[in-house]
Amino acid sequence: MRKDWFEKKIENLSKLSGYKKPDKYSNAIKLDSNENYAIDISFFQDLINQTKEKTDVREYPLGGTEKLAASLSDYVKMPKEMIGVGNGSDQIIDLILGNLASKETRILTSEPTFGFFEERCKLYAIPTTKIPFNGEMNLRVEDFLASSKKADVLYLDSPNNPTGFQFQRKQLEKLIQSFNGLVIIDEAYVEFADYTIIDATKKMSNLIVLRTLSKSFGLAGLRIGYFVANKKIVDAFSRVIQYPYPLNTVAIEAGTLALKKSKYFTDVADFVKKERARIIAKLQEMKVFKVFDSKANFVLFAAGGASQRIHKALIEQGIVIKRLGRVGTYDGCLRVTVGTQEMNSRFLTAIRDLLN
Ligand SMILES: Cc1ncc(COP(=O)(O)O)c(C=O)c1O
Repeated sequence: MRKDWFEKKIENLSKLSGYKKPDKYSNAIKLDSNENYAIDISFFQDLINQTKEKTDVREYPLGGTEKLAASLSDYVKMPKEMIGVGNGSDQIIDLILGNLASKETRILTSEPTFGFFEERCKLYAIPTTKIPFNGEMNLRVEDFLASSKKADVLYLDSPNNPTGFQFQRKQLEKLIQSFNGLVIIDEAYVEFADYTIIDATKKMSNLIVLRTLSKSFGLAGLRIGYFVANKKIVDAFSRVIQYPYPLNTVAIEAGTLALKKSKYFTDVADFVKKERARIIAKLQEMKVFKVFDSKANFVLFAAGGASQRIHKALIEQGIVIKRLGRVGTYDGCLRVTVGTQEMNSRFLTAIRDLLN
């Protein structure tokens, strides 16, 4: 029996870095992973208590994904046949790339783009062309259009992680309508943004819009992702590609309950947007950082050579933010998630004190 084929495969896989998860710090204010602490933990404790009464974990979650898709359909106001679900949008990305793309598929995306997406392309050896952010931390539609003929898949996170950038609606519409291949628009942060492109899925049979309950719904730990697309794509995905039971019973029930309270989450998103504006204004006032506008639940700012020192000093004070290094044309970029008012104030005070 020959075994060198898989030994070689494992050796090649071992050379990849894989998705680098954030470091774990105990008893720290966690503003590094774009989670949603603006919702109090007691809200989720109630949600899980209500869920407990409705679940029988001895059973496979038969009909569960369909039930969740029906609730999502009410939330996004799209037919349920146009909604597919997954174990986080990460899993949906993985299944789409693993089943629809190959080494011959050419992907067009931005630089930077969502890190997990990038790592998955590396895993499947799918070649990518990346359009960099310019000096204003913007993308130019023209640059994408110039490369679009040579690409089979366009992936854009809208808003973008880690910059917070979102194209003007007209610009994005122009870009996706002129693209002939598969278009994947990742709207993980859309509830904090100016618009959604979801309606375009009714007209475009080559468009997949990815969504998640990890961000505005604060359910990152339950791993609930979904997407909206043409019925044919959803049918092939849900019936053939997706696992029979991708989501566990607790996630399905809790997600369904959360979606019934969507008005509450809209109010939380409004709060996050206000706090985001406060963080941007206060960081700008310090006059030492280049601070970028954001349409997501985080703020990117460039601290140049001081970034390592700031990041470390904040950790010493129990505040964790994300260190990114160079982004676009800026060195020493840091990304801070919008948290509760108190968390945000602690971050702002700590950073101001560091500068004095
Ligand atoms: C752009 C983008 N897409 C998708 C995800 C992952 O979402 P999920 O928790 O549903 O896997 C993230 C998480 O940070 C993200 O930034």
